[in-house]
Amino acid sequence: MKDDNFLKENNARHLWHPMGHPGDSLETPPRIITGAEGVYVHDIDGHSAIDAVGGLWCVNLGYSNNPIKDAIAKQLYDLPYSSNFAGSTNPCAIEASLAVRNMFAEDGMARVFFTSGGSDSVETALRLSRQYHRLRKEPTRTKFLSLKKGYHGTHFGGASVNGNNRFRINYEPLMPGCFHLPSPYTYRNPFDETDPAALAQKIAAIFEDEILFQGAQTIAAFIMEPIQGAGGVIVPDASFMKLMRDICDKYGILMISDEVITGFGRTGDWSGARHWGVKPDMMCLAKGITSAYFPVGAALMSEKIAEVFEKDTTGEAGIYHGYTYSAHPVGAAAVVACLQETLRLDTKTNAAARGTQLFEGVKKLADKYDIIGDIRGGEGLMIGLEIVNDKATKTPMDGATMARLHQATFEAGALVRLGMHNVLMSPPLVITEAEVDGILTALDRGFANV
Ligand SMILES: Cc1ncc(COP(=O)(O)O)c(C=O)c1O
Repeated sequence: MKDDNFLKENNARHLWHPMGHPGDSLETPPRIITGAEGVYVHDIDGHSAIDAVGGLWCVNLGYSNNPIKDAIAKQLYDLPYSSNFAGSTNPCAIEASLAVRNMFAEDGMARVFFTSGGSDSVETALRLSRQYHRLRKEPTRTKFLSLKKGYHGTHFGGASVNGNNRFRINYEPLMPGCFHLPSPYTYRNPFDETDPAALAQKIAAIFEDEILFQGAQTIAAFIMEPIQGAGGVIVPDASFMKLMRDICDKYGILMISDEVITGFGRTGDWSGARHWGVKPDMMCLAKGITSAYFPVGAALMSEKIAEVFEKDTTGEAGIYHGYTYSAHPVGAAAVVACLQETLRLDTKTNAAARGTQLFEGVKKLADKYDIIGDIRGGEGLMIGLEIVNDKATKTPMDGATMARLHQATFEAGALVRLGMHNVLMSPPLVITEAEVDGILTALDRGFANV
């Protein structure tokens, strides 16, 4: 490894970073993280902080899980790569597919298609949903509906169903046939509706109206996150996903639950759909599937979908889609070890308890600091704080103040994530009570110093 001077000198000079302006990165080079242990990250200047973001909502088991590290190391020596394209497989892929299937059997999931990450998983689900309808002799079902504020990754399909225009505008035109419904976002919505249950009813009515307008026979699937993550941690009413499920059923539309963040315990249940008492037709997974120790994702299909593909006799059910690294043996070894650890540690139970603690703590901060306009969470370890410079007008806080808040909180001991004028938190699910208190203390100091 080159020395610190070399690293600082070359920082951002040869590397374009995702989700940022290359010019900004040159002007303000990114923080260089050099190490991590437990729930702490360390930077090149010797600062340490609790990782209140869990990497990017992904390091569910923290940075020191030796069983996953050992499984990866062993697999690198046993078989570092083998193709999983039809006709070839590897032992870890077989074991990992069963482990994932078992984890989501209660959600009605029956088959697993491995990918390299969340965007791939979304792409896979969107494509297979169209193919499913073609196989059922409904080839006109090609359109997708989704929610504003939703985030579904950055492939063209995922970006087309994304509901935040900053991920769309520069890359337009996107895929035709994608339509968006309002988000269940009580703080800001076109109806000025602050009651979550009433807002859920209004969106359901718009969903049904849109289906009738488009023609149900043209719609393949509706995709949603059980709790919208990157859009600002938008927690819908408990009735919302069920209402959407019922409408999907009424009109023969598949429901895709994008569980890239909410899967594997983050909501206090093993899946977000289960948290709301819903069984989707497909699920998109990534992140917690390996706790980010290796890039892996998966799209899951229900028995109903599996049957249509597997019983096809026309040859049209061939899946001519997939990735070089689908079911990569090292990734699959990471999945097996990660899921064993996730179950052993029962991370969903800790996520529920620590999530309540963090949410109660930020409520107290909201009483103390006027710039906290809205706080969202209370369903596991996903918390969003919307920062405004005027509570009455809800004017979003400017970027410079947000950057100061971020830096001051880091210096006080917690790394949080900014999503525009939102502070987002999704710490590792193994975090302790004392460490959650540490995040709250750091946030308090951060707010006191802006
Ligand atoms: C709900 C959701 N779907 C899809 C993605 C895309 O995943 P990836 O960044 O692994 O491609 C993300 C990423 O944060 C996500 O939050």
